[in-house]
Amino acid sequence: MSEIQTIQWFPGHMTKTRRMITANLNLVDAVVELVDARIPASSRNPEMDSLTAGKPRLVVMNKCDMADEQATQQWLNHFRSQGFAAIAVDCKSGKNVKQFFPALRTLLAELIEKRRAKGMGGRPLHVMIVGIPNVGKSSFINRLAGAKIAKAEDRPGVTRTKQWVKLAEGVELLDTPGVLWPKFDDQEVARRLAFTGAIKDDVVDIEALAMLLLERLYALYPDLLRARYKLTAEPDTDGFDLLEEVGRRRGMLLSGGVVHTERAAITVLDEYRSAKLGRITLERPEEQGAE
Ligand code: G4P
Repeated sequence: MSEIQTIQWFPGHMTKTRRMITANLNLVDAVVELVDARIPASSRNPEMDSLTAGKPRLVVMNKCDMADEQATQQWLNHFRSQGFAAIAVDCKSGKNVKQFFPALRTLLAELIEKRRAKGMGGRPLHVMIVGIPNVGKSSFINRLAGAKIAKAEDRPGVTRTKQWVKLAEGVELLDTPGVLWPKFDDQEVARRLAFTGAIKDDVVDIEALAMLLLERLYALYPDLLRARYKLTAEPDTDGFDLLEEVGRRRGMLLSGGVVHTERAAITVLDEYRSAKLGRITLERPEEQGAE
């Protein structure tokens, strides 16, 4: 297995967002949690369960256009078996986004019925949306609202007022800034976030990252890699050798025939992130630590 330096990430606005979530929890009827369908476990903030304990949850798997359809179905079943409502959407095309409203109504059926019985049936449903940076929260909100809504600021030090967005069907949504967590107990989680670009490349060694990604991809989707890069390497080939083969196949050579591994790494990461390699999901519900 290739080595990579320990990834750490300390966003300064983390505490503020955490406070915002807990302070506003009593104002909402449900929490909508956006996850990246390519890494449905690693893109979930592990703090979210305790922060939002007790609130009905709708998990929205976004970017499902880039994920493996079969894996997405497994994850939907997994989230539902945990008592969450779950839908898979693609905010690029808008696919399935409209499933949000019926899914929310089903999740909150008891509350809606209780309100109706008390003559308060017209009251809006309030939801809070949470998710890590870049997971597609703004895209999702814009799709739901049918308009471009100002983004909840992810940058530290930027103050913004609380933002309720009125959606269709009597739903009002509170946006929160995207946050990562202060410390990765599991470096594998950090790597997967880095693969997708959720952790910026300037805090990681991209060659080491690309080697790890190639190892993972060659184990999970060997045919996709063979098709894209004409790889002939044996299964279980080390990430460095895979990266060199990609570079050689693409003619990325320095003087003396040495492979320009940095260029090859950038290519692999770019092509993975833009789904040029195909539809790929890097983790499965049954894997250890995928809870
Ligand atoms: P955020 O608010 O959670 O930070 O995320 P945002 O909506 O800004 O989306 C982050 C990036 O992910 C954007 O790309 C966006 O287009 C892309 N994206 C969001 N949802 C989907 C999806 O379902 N499928 C795919 N393929 N991409 C999605 P960008 O490169 O930052 O900007 P741009 O390409 O929109 O210009």
